[in-house]
Amino acid sequence: MTSRLALRGDLLDFTADPGFAATAEASGLRWRPDHWLLIEDGHIINAQPAGSVDSEPDASWQRIDHRGRLILPGFIDTHVHSPQLDVIASHGGALLDWLERYTFPAEQKYADPALAEAGAARFVEALFAHGTTAAVVFPTVHKVSAEALFAAAQQRGMRLIAGKVLMDCNAPDGLRDDVDGAERDCTDLIQRWHGRDRLAYAVTVRFAGTSTREQLAMAGRLCAAHDGVFMQTHVAENTDEVRWIAGLFPEARSYLDVYERHGLLHPRAVLAHGIWIDDRDRALLHERGAQIAFCPSSNLFLGSGLFDWQAAADAGVTVSIASDVGGGTSLSMLRTLADGYKVQSLRGLRLTAWKLLHAATRGAAQSLGLAGEIGSLDAGCVADLAVWDWAVGAVAMHRDGLAQDSRDLHERVFAWMTLGDERNLAATYVAGERVY
Ligand code: GUN
Ligand code: ZN
Repeated sequence: MTSRLALRGDLLDFTADPGFAATAEASGLRWRPDHWLLIEDGHIINAQPAGSVDSEPDASWQRIDHRGRLILPGFIDTHVHSPQLDVIASHGGALLDWLERYTFPAEQKYADPALAEAGAARFVEALFAHGTTAAVVFPTVHKVSAEALFAAAQQRGMRLIAGKVLMDCNAPDGLRDDVDGAERDCTDLIQRWHGRDRLAYAVTVRFAGTSTREQLAMAGRLCAAHDGVFMQTHVAENTDEVRWIAGLFPEARSYLDVYERHGLLHPRAVLAHGIWIDDRDRALLHERGAQIAFCPSSNLFLGSGLFDWQAAADAGVTVSIASDVGGGTSLSMLRTLADGYKVQSLRGLRLTAWKLLHAATRGAAQSLGLAGEIGSLDAGCVADLAVWDWAVGAVAMHRDGLAQDSRDLHERVFAWMTLGDERNLAATYVAGERVY
């Protein structure tokens, strides 16, 4: 029997990239206040105005009234580390120091299957509790940590892209693999999980600093040999890191060029940060169709730098936005977007809520090649949704009231995005099932 679910609320999504235009000129926004969103067997089939007797879904529908709330596509976090919930908000240190002091010791523990399983469940549930329904995730070097993550996502019907982390040098004991063992593990994981339900494999090079040339070449071969696999890594996050990589790979023109030389740049490549890149790198990213995951919270917290979104856009590079927990300090994409606004503000660019929200929904889906499945409220998409209260707490309620009086939708949505976080979340649905 067909399952039928109708959700009533203010529907907000995008049909195209609003770009850097000022609010008044924004295109691509789709705003449907007080509508029913109709979901059959986990897929969105239609939306219709609410409020009149003829437009009520009939008794064959399970009706849930979220009137007065926002309904958006679930957020897509294009770069986040599942084991790093254990080190989120750790004091002191820039990237390389932070990795050594906090991150590597925490990740060592994920060799334990029971700990990996509990950590994966905690992580996936936490994403849902922040309104995120799809993610591109780093577990650890341990095969069991990738297994546990895939299994946790599969049990919950979630769209997940992940892969065992590759690192065969410059890392402590218990956190290194080797080329042959890693190739066997990756091949096995790809066969087991890639393309199964809503899961996809990402060849996961931690960063150029923790893989030998031989391992990078093996990662490139995996990308070439397996249809549709993603690639994820970090690039040019921190100036000390960039200098270190230049010393390790003197033959490369730039940090990004290390990946290019090993066949790792392609349309399903997601590279976190890209702060310290130049125009030749941007041209190369564009040419290869690879995307940057901008991680503003992490970049501020670790003091890494201010990503140049305008230059990336001018070069035709696709940019999504990501929490990068535990370098980032919140799984909340609302907080992440608010940080993104502030970082770009420091560069003199005032992004609209439309541009930011698009980057965390349809924009991310498009750059991952998944726009037919996630990121919007289009008919045919899977019903991965988050339902939000406009305001929580006296200050936000006061501000929201004034924004309503102004009748300026952008003012209201921008205040929601800037003041909101997971406390605003009323419900999360994955494939039409309530998961939070
Ligand atoms: N570069 C290599 N590993 C990491 C990581 O775990 N977090 C961040 N932010 N950057 C990295
Ligand atoms: Zn990261």
